[in-house]
Amino acid sequence: MINAEKLNKLVKKKEVALLGGGVKRIESQHKKGKLTARERIALLLDSGTFEEIGMLVTHRSTDFGMEEQKYLGDGVVTGYGQINGRLVYVFSQDFTVFGGSLSETHAEKICKIMDLAMKTGNPLIGLNDSGGARIQEGVVSLGGYADIFYRNVQLSGVIPQISAIMGPCAGGAVYSPAMTDFTLMVEDTSYMFVTGPNVVKTVTHEEVSSEELGGAKTHASKSGVTHFTANNDAACIRMIRRLISFMPQNCEDDAPVYPYETKSSELREKLAQIVPQNSNTPYDVREIIEEIADEETFMEVHKDYAENMVVGFARLAGRSIGIVANQPAFLAGVLDINSSKKAARFTRFCDAFNIPLLVLVDVPGFLPGTDQEWNGIIVNGAKLLYALSEATVPKVTVITRKAYGGAYDVMNSKHIGADLNFAWPTAEIAVMGSKGAAEIIFKNDIAKAENPEVKLAEKVDEYTQIFANPYRAAERGFIDEIIDPIQTRIKLINGFKMLENKVQSMPKRKHGNIPL
Ligand code: HXC
Repeated sequence: MINAEKLNKLVKKKEVALLGGGVKRIESQHKKGKLTARERIALLLDSGTFEEIGMLVTHRSTDFGMEEQKYLGDGVVTGYGQINGRLVYVFSQDFTVFGGSLSETHAEKICKIMDLAMKTGNPLIGLNDSGGARIQEGVVSLGGYADIFYRNVQLSGVIPQISAIMGPCAGGAVYSPAMTDFTLMVEDTSYMFVTGPNVVKTVTHEEVSSEELGGAKTHASKSGVTHFTANNDAACIRMIRRLISFMPQNCEDDAPVYPYETKSSELREKLAQIVPQNSNTPYDVREIIEEIADEETFMEVHKDYAENMVVGFARLAGRSIGIVANQPAFLAGVLDINSSKKAARFTRFCDAFNIPLLVLVDVPGFLPGTDQEWNGIIVNGAKLLYALSEATVPKVTVITRKAYGGAYDVMNSKHIGADLNFAWPTAEIAVMGSKGAAEIIFKNDIAKAENPEVKLAEKVDEYTQIFANPYRAAERGFIDEIIDPIQTRIKLINGFKMLENKVQSMPKRKHGNIPL
């Protein structure tokens, strides 16, 4: 029988470990509106499923009197547990211990669960709240970061990796989240930057607050570094639980299928009302998505960044899909640098993790201008073209209205490997809009005409009759079926079901060379 004294020693140690940096620092964390590392894990995982690994680890540092300051766990809580009954690995940095700073042993703990996640093929979730490299440790801390970065790359495309930023995240520490699949930030209490406001001021003489430089809103709207923002820790954690529900455990697995009872009618009358009569009048593509997807399943990704493109997860008859959609309500849904990058990155995630893609098209073309050209719309637009071309998951397209020029090719056309291409009768599939086209090809006729304006209108009408519709494309087989909008949902359910066992392999190579 186990000696009570020995058992007691263990119980005492655990009690100490559970307190992290102590009651005072826990209070200070709460005062900032933040939860502790352990409270976050408790909210993230199904109740009672957390198994901790490395609770009694301490640092090995002896400089600056550090041997006198040891905290069990060394500033990060690591282990595994379940989300809706599915296994995940988690690390949660404890700001109450040396500000959650990363020591050699802190890094080793994170690497240990990353290795387990790799070996067993299950997602990794990191809850970041850290003052960066443990300043007292110097280069071993930097080495610890690099050990994590290296593993992030090894795990990329093998298991889903999610990073929540729930406090400071500065210096090179930002690069681990940047290499994971999705980043979430908590408003007002988190920030991310490579160099903070003081360094910025010294080097560039700019005066900027932490919030403005690298707060949640900045990264959600200006840089696109974060995919989601939440207004507090609990909301952020709920988002992670929801996000993971769309994903498989690893690249060889399929996303979970949720129970879905087929309704007596899957027709959606509202879909016939959304696209306005005038093809230049905007509408919100989210209204179409809401009608197509299973009720309240759409989870938008990168909502406030490059709003001319909408991307996100949803379920269709209980199964996960990724949606990439032009947004006519913002800049007429034009393709530009940021929207191409946003959609390409999302497409690649879905393809890596066997999530079928639905592409909704209403695009007037690429955004013209020096700003776009000088910043590389050519290589950046090519990212989306490349990502959709290389994706081997089931790919289905619905053209609701405009599909003009190169953007027609890029937006999951038949030519780049889409499996099923639908168009609504409102679709206009052409090299460009009718007015622009008529002005170019009938330039001389219009110039010579008695009344050029009337002539132009006549020619615009002629071009519209011939090309501003989906029938030429359907004649060629570039469109598989022109459908009544109200049928869209049922057509997609059937189409994705038909494609369920799609197998497509790519040519043998080390890896492609996406235009970065
Ligand atoms: C050791 C640290 C620490 C660090 C904070 N602490 N950062 N200990 N190494 N990097 C400790 C503090 O001493 C303090 O200890 C406790 O954490 C809380 O810190 P406070 O400053 O009291 O908290 P707050 O006012 O909220 O400010 C948080 C902070 C600030 C903004 C993060 O502490 C700060 O600026 N820290 C330094 C950040 C930094 O420069 N890190 C290195 C970045 S370079 P006590 O005992 O009082 O509780 C980097 C390189 C990575 O990370 C490269 C990877 C390739």
